[in-house]
Amino acid sequence: MTLTDLYELRDDVYRRPLITAVQRIGLGPGWKVADLGAGNGDVSVALAAQVGRTGRVYAVDIDPLRRNEIATKASLFSQVVAVTQAVEELALPEKVDLVFARFLLLGIDSPKLAVSKMIESVRKGGWIVVQEPITSAGRIDLQALSTDTLVIKWPDIGVMVPKLLADAGVVLTDMWAESPVGYGSGPEVDYLYHMTEHPLPKDSTVVLPPLVTVVGRCE
Ligand SMILES: C[S@@+](CC[C@H](N)C(=O)[O-])C[C@H]1O[C@@H](n2cnc3c(N)ncnc32)[C@H](O)[C@@H]1O
Repeated sequence: MTLTDLYELRDDVYRRPLITAVQRIGLGPGWKVADLGAGNGDVSVALAAQVGRTGRVYAVDIDPLRRNEIATKASLFSQVVAVTQAVEELALPEKVDLVFARFLLLGIDSPKLAVSKMIESVRKGGWIVVQEPITSAGRIDLQALSTDTLVIKWPDIGVMVPKLLADAGVVLTDMWAESPVGYGSGPEVDYLYHMTEHPLPKDSTVVLPPLVTVVGRCE
């Protein structure tokens, strides 16, 4: 399985919190959005479908290889602009109405710096939505998910996100955690298998790491 396949699985299993977040802020035509750590561009394309041709989605990723991948995925969406940039050096050509980041802060040296760059990029009154996991709160049957073998800087960053945003001056308007659950087979089980690289018994119940969504406004 390639990284892209894993991202696609992720998009599948974590789609619901994305839809909920987008509905709660009322994302619609004409919005300017930045999707930070855009990966293969799945989320950017989903956001582009909401903002339409009059909107714009800056799909930002540090990895230059992502640029072509995003451009290919977004070929029907001229409103998607693929940008190769580190979030720590974020400099977009305009302020946006929404900064969105999913599964980004968990791998970053300084989530605090990344959050400050996010806020700088949002217009006054605009939105910030961050979705990050609490990896160790995942379960395989009754067993807590081990994070020992994972190469992630902040596996439980999800619990830190409300304070990170509040300390940076964001007005928090909504937050929740959501865990996809699977039994036996299916995308959730596949996702966990590829994340941990440990085969699971056929009749396992897996609770994927809860994804904490924090929604806030930049005043
Ligand atoms: C775990 S993936 C998440 C992709 C996508 N947001 C999702 O939810 O499926 C993290 C992405 O962030 C990118 N990334 C890592 N560090 C970054 C940084 N400092 N600035 C911008 N992008 C970064 C990686 O290249 C990768 O594509």
